Amino acid sequence: MNVQDRYRHARDHRIPGGVHLRSKLPEAFAPGQWPAYFQRANGINIWDTDGNHFEDWVSTGIGATLLGYRDPDVTAAVTACISDGSFSFLNAPEEVDLADRLCEIHPWAENVRFARGGGEIAAIAVRIARATTDRSKVAVSGYHGWHDWYLAANLGDDDALRGHLMPNLNPLGVPRELRGTAATFTHNNREAFDNIIAEHGDELACVIMEPCRYVDPDPGYLDHIRSEAHRVGALLIFDEVTAGWRRHFGGSHLRLGVNPDMAIFAKSLSNGHPCAAVIGTREAMDGAHESFISSTYWTERTGPVAALATLKKMEHLDVPAHADRVGRAIEAGLQKHFDALSLPARVFGEYPCFAGFQFEHPQADEMRLFFIQEMLKRGYLAGPRVYVTLAHTEENLGPYLDATGAVFADLAGALAKGDLAERLEGPTAVSGFGRLV
Ligand SMILES: Cc1ncc(COP(=O)(O)O)c(C=O)c1O
Repeated sequence: MNVQDRYRHARDHRIPGGVHLRSKLPEAFAPGQWPAYFQRANGINIWDTDGNHFEDWVSTGIGATLLGYRDPDVTAAVTACISDGSFSFLNAPEEVDLADRLCEIHPWAENVRFARGGGEIAAIAVRIARATTDRSKVAVSGYHGWHDWYLAANLGDDDALRGHLMPNLNPLGVPRELRGTAATFTHNNREAFDNIIAEHGDELACVIMEPCRYVDPDPGYLDHIRSEAHRVGALLIFDEVTAGWRRHFGGSHLRLGVNPDMAIFAKSLSNGHPCAAVIGTREAMDGAHESFISSTYWTERTGPVAALATLKKMEHLDVPAHADRVGRAIEAGLQKHFDALSLPARVFGEYPCFAGFQFEHPQADEMRLFFIQEMLKRGYLAGPRVYVTLAHTEENLGPYLDATGAVFADLAGALAKGDLAERLEGPTAVSGFGRLV
């Protein structure tokens, strides 16, 4: 079965929703053209199941691989662990080593619990906060996964999560009885946060948010959140699942100088191998002694082994500085193309490690599809945003910018001729998270 047929079979007959991570949905890029399945991956290289080679200049596993795919050092550590046996009825000693290492990197934290996924560890952190405070309400900003505690924010109020990282998340199947348990505020919106504190302060178990995502918080914003949360007896949880390690070793809160009561990590913590951690003060994590939080595969060994190898490597290489430098070069190169071609597009100019651009034109969706489609033909998985990794370098940037320049020139030609729609070889991307079949 070729890569497109395999995906259609999965989506239409076997796997409701098509994929298990909505961000990997082919329809979100170029329906019918984007290759859904990979055979091999290495650095920024991916070979699909038809044997086609691509370079990944898009989200590099949705931010899960800051060192690049199949990093040799992490792979060697994981392979050795598998050879020794990665699972037994006794526990993996590496989880103690990893807990110690995380507390060394974050001197404010003393306790650690592990899981394997980002949404999962967010649910655990919220459970611990509820157990410790014996309260149930949560104030939430940004995206934190698929679990009931979070999607409860969308029950009965379709707009609650609109404007967050992924709007329109459907809470169908989440018990209606959870309505009113999660109140949302948007990034840098002090007034919305203050309203939650005024309305629900004495019922609030925790505030959970990313300390930053694409831009820095306003001066004093995080301090304000922390002091207000503490004033009303709530715990502060920082979600470093995606932004953590990318801008600063140990997570953005260390760079921004505000410590939470708990912080959560996943994704690039273990560079493509599943491992997630919640770290916290002894007081904040007290509820974890009694609340039942337990799962078989949280005890497997490859996750902590991969995380230890990833941290060891990241400690010696300044990955944030590299991502910053390459990200700036990406945006500078793209902007040069836009200026030379008078293309209606602009680079984001936010954190360079999430470098990218957007088209500003009534046909923006078609322009985006044309860009993705033509970059695929040139051997690039490309999109408007690049999650820069250690494997993106000044050397491979040159050919990428040459390819984008050629595609943008064709795009400018299509716009001038008015035949862009005829040049598209499939439907434009679906937006949002609606049903596919
Ligand atoms: C900030 C943040 N928290 C939590 C999650 C959920 O992580 P996972 O997809 O591993 O469940 C994500 C995923 O994108 C995220 O960006």
